[in-house]
Amino acid sequence: MRGDKRIYWQQSRVFANTPVDELDCVDAHLMKRTAIAIAKYFYGLAASVYLFSVGWIVSGRARGLISTIAAHFGFRTIDFSIPTVRLAEITDADCTIQLTELPENDGNITLLELSVIAALVRQNAPRTIFEIGTFDGRTTLNMAVNAAPEARLFTLDLPREQVDSTKLHVTTGDRVFIDKPQSGARFAGTDAARRITQLYGDSAEFDFSPYFGTIDLIFVDGSHAYEYVLNDTEIALKLLRDGHGVILWHDYTAWPGATRALNELSQRALTNPPPAVGHPVFENMKHISGTTLVYFKM
Ligand SMILES: C[S@@+](CC[C@H](N)C(=O)[O-])C[C@H]1O[C@@H](n2cnc3c(N)ncnc32)[C@H](O)[C@@H]1O
Repeated sequence: MRGDKRIYWQQSRVFANTPVDELDCVDAHLMKRTAIAIAKYFYGLAASVYLFSVGWIVSGRARGLISTIAAHFGFRTIDFSIPTVRLAEITDADCTIQLTELPENDGNITLLELSVIAALVRQNAPRTIFEIGTFDGRTTLNMAVNAAPEARLFTLDLPREQVDSTKLHVTTGDRVFIDKPQSGARFAGTDAARRITQLYGDSAEFDFSPYFGTIDLIFVDGSHAYEYVLNDTEIALKLLRDGHGVILWHDYTAWPGATRALNELSQRALTNPPPAVGHPVFENMKHISGTTLVYFKM
């Protein structure tokens, strides 16, 4: 009987004196939530089947997700030994940034990482920026819009035609991001593009010498293979203007090769061959909290 007051089957005090109309409402709400939970369960199950069968082969983000799941359940093959720093410790609270091209494609950094890089660019005001690993140019573009109007940016990418002739080994995961019709599609035709110089080649063979000693901020985000991250870091050191500036790396904790290389770099000097700017020990490398970015300022 509608409007009657009666003891609801849950025996709950909340329900005990609740009119039937409201009980129907609560009932419907509970059923809806249960249905959503069940739907989510099966959606997650189907997604997991994809993730662990095809996904981990074709998608870097899927591999990152598997790493996250494995780490959640206590699986660690390598330590994450680089100390963490909060963004608030390396940027000013009143730092204002501008973001564009927000939608994230597989291969892009996260929106938080994009914001962090934008803030570091805004704050450090580099006159020159060098990125290794252009991809679709989303980060290049966002660094450009947050840099001073007179700043120049250089971004290097491996043309897909060269994927089988690199000096060092390219991982299967990297091939997915190399194989694309165009590098820098996101900044093509924008105002910022006038300040961006696109370079092409394998970072292990490219002639970086015209840029040595001239760069204020370097973003290392090319191949994620261990040897490449070491190679690209050695180059980054040579690029720094008078040995000073900021180096950022992406994919710490997400890609085993990059993680191992960065762990090692944080603990030892680069010695083989000696970098042009000395033998810095990256002891003050910092893993930026909530991201896969590593930050180093010299
Ligand atoms: C993960 S994507 C970079 C993402 C980009 N930095 C961003 O923030 O959106 C990696 C890029 O590195 C490039 N790459 C891979 N191996 C390279 C190499 N040996 N030399 C130069 N670029 C390389 C790939 O072509 C790809 O565009």
